[in-house]
Amino acid sequence: MDKSFFMIKPDAVAENNIGGIIAIIEKSNFKIIALKMLLVETKLAKEHYKEHINKPFFKELVEFITSGPSVAIILEGQDCIKNLRDLVGNTNPAKAVQGTIRTKFGVDVGRNAVHASDSSEAAIREIDLFFNTSEIY
Ligand code: RTP
Ligand code: MG
Repeated sequence: MDKSFFMIKPDAVAENNIGGIIAIIEKSNFKIIALKMLLVETKLAKEHYKEHINKPFFKELVEFITSGPSVAIILEGQDCIKNLRDLVGNTNPAKAVQGTIRTKFGVDVGRNAVHASDSSEAAIREIDLFFNTSEIY
């Protein structure tokens, strides 16, 4: 069993897609072990996406992720990190495989509905950034 950090981004929250996305997650056998709604502040957004700090889209990315509330979630399951990335789909919803969360709920590369950790190191780092151990069940 491993854990991944998953987040429903401000575009999907604004479009009332929290329930639709969580329904897919639960049907796909991931176990929710922590969940909270929060407005990600600029400092946390920059830390979370620090690997992209020198990319041309970094400023836009931070502005978007801080533009409204998100839902931060920790998921657990067999091969959770890889299986979740597969379920989420390509960064660009237009390139994502049919049936993935980003084809159903993403609008474009900037507003792609959800985030999922891309490695076990990232999952550990992101879980620690967003949650206290007392919030994890
Ligand atoms: P995420 O971290 O949000 O789960 O997305 P990801 O792994 O699929 O993609 P990543 O390369 O980590 O990029 C992080 C977020 O930056 C935005 N982005 N914009 N304009 C662009 O070319 C571009 N490339 C990436 C996306 O919103 C992506 O989710
Ligand atoms: Mg990423």
